[in-house]
Amino acid sequence: MPPKKLHLAWFGIAGPGGSAGDWKRSVDGYDWRYPEIYQDIAKACERAKFDLVFFADQYGIPQVYGGNWDHPLKAGLWSPCHDPLPILGALAACTRRIGLVATLSTTFYPTYLLARLLASLDHFSRGRLGWNVVTSTKKSAALAFGMDDLIEHDERYNIADEYLALCKALWSSWEPDALVMDRDRDLFADPSKVHAVDFKGKYFRSQGVLNVPASPQGGPVIVQAGGSPRGQRFAAEHAEMVIINKTSVEGLKAYTTALRGELVRAGRDPASCKILCGIKPIFGETESIARERWEAQAAEATVETGLITLSEQTGIDMSAYDLDSPLPAGLKGPGMQSKLPEYSRHRPATLREIALNEARHDNFPIYGTADQIADRLEQAAVEGDADGFYLRPGLQNIAYVIEFVDKVVPVLQRRGLLRKEYSGATLRHHLFEY
Ligand SMILES: Cc1cc2nc3c(=O)[nH]c(=O)nc-3n(C[C@H](O)[C@H](O)[C@H](O)COP(=O)(O)O)c2cc1C
Repeated sequence: MPPKKLHLAWFGIAGPGGSAGDWKRSVDGYDWRYPEIYQDIAKACERAKFDLVFFADQYGIPQVYGGNWDHPLKAGLWSPCHDPLPILGALAACTRRIGLVATLSTTFYPTYLLARLLASLDHFSRGRLGWNVVTSTKKSAALAFGMDDLIEHDERYNIADEYLALCKALWSSWEPDALVMDRDRDLFADPSKVHAVDFKGKYFRSQGVLNVPASPQGGPVIVQAGGSPRGQRFAAEHAEMVIINKTSVEGLKAYTTALRGELVRAGRDPASCKILCGIKPIFGETESIARERWEAQAAEATVETGLITLSEQTGIDMSAYDLDSPLPAGLKGPGMQSKLPEYSRHRPATLREIALNEARHDNFPIYGTADQIADRLEQAAVEGDADGFYLRPGLQNIAYVIEFVDKVVPVLQRRGLLRKEYSGATLRHHLFEY
């Protein structure tokens, strides 16, 4: 059987870091505040023929853990964080092929404004744009935008369904050949191919037309990350790619089986949505060097970092729970609802174990030589039925990216697990090339 070709992505936030001490790791004069670090990461990933680079985003400073933002601010954790859109503009200008994905919230962005921004960026990148559709899970963000509280979890997805319907109507308001720019005919655009939108939904209304013509992809690639049953139904309806975190290959397989089932129920081909799982493989010239490096990194993770991350993601203040006991069964917050059940898949983990796992960002530990990493990725993709992986080393860890590109990628390519060249120019092409 030919090897299973993987889709690869880099994942990060445009800020000092998501792990303890990330902000101190900055090297070679790079500074998260300025474009060079983002540009050099994207260029390295493009050299390795990755499908895309991905920017997560959030609003406000984490403040669920302990009810204040002292811990995350002192640790430089998850905040501050640049808006990803200007960064994608800077990346569009210095790369030619790699896909560029930004996270934007359907709860806070006015629909027309977002549809227009993304249409422009799809033009600027010549068809390399993706949108990670989030509904936002943080009360602090709701307060910052002048709301009294977060909208209820499933209702946020109902709103997002309609939000996407309006965006798609706006993106298709110009037919692909409406922009003529024909000097001989003295015709700039053909009015018969520009159609008014008259959208009256339960949550949104819009009349008029987008003032950006049809973009190269006709709209960005839709990416999504919701893991709850409602989140999966949303993905099955709209997503062309999902990103997930799983702590075992069995957990990955359970998720991919469920999502592919939802895709079929939604009348779609189960392969029409690419599923990428988060990993952070640690490379070493020998297995024992890799293991030492992995252990050194694992030792850097602090329980507090994990608790801050977990509190923020779930919307539950973890400072209220005993570190050495499992969390109460069925504990549910306003945020990510698939997170905690994942940790009781095999046996209920203690809060300390969960926190350390969150702080390490390595869902199922992978370390070894380039060949061992390739073996493990291939096995996880085949057994877990994943389409690929995204690397989450942390923005400051550009040295990790360069090492992965120089040492591991050539082996993946030699073994037929990764493309050696791009065969197309758009993100949608990369994702569905194989
Ligand atoms: C890998 C991954 C990345 C995510 N990135 C973001 C992000 O950048 N911004 C955000 O607001 N939510 C992000 N989320 C949260 C999801 O979009 C979603 O809102 C959350 O998982 C709650 O939905 P659920 O209960 O359906 O899982 C991410 C989730 C996962 C699993």
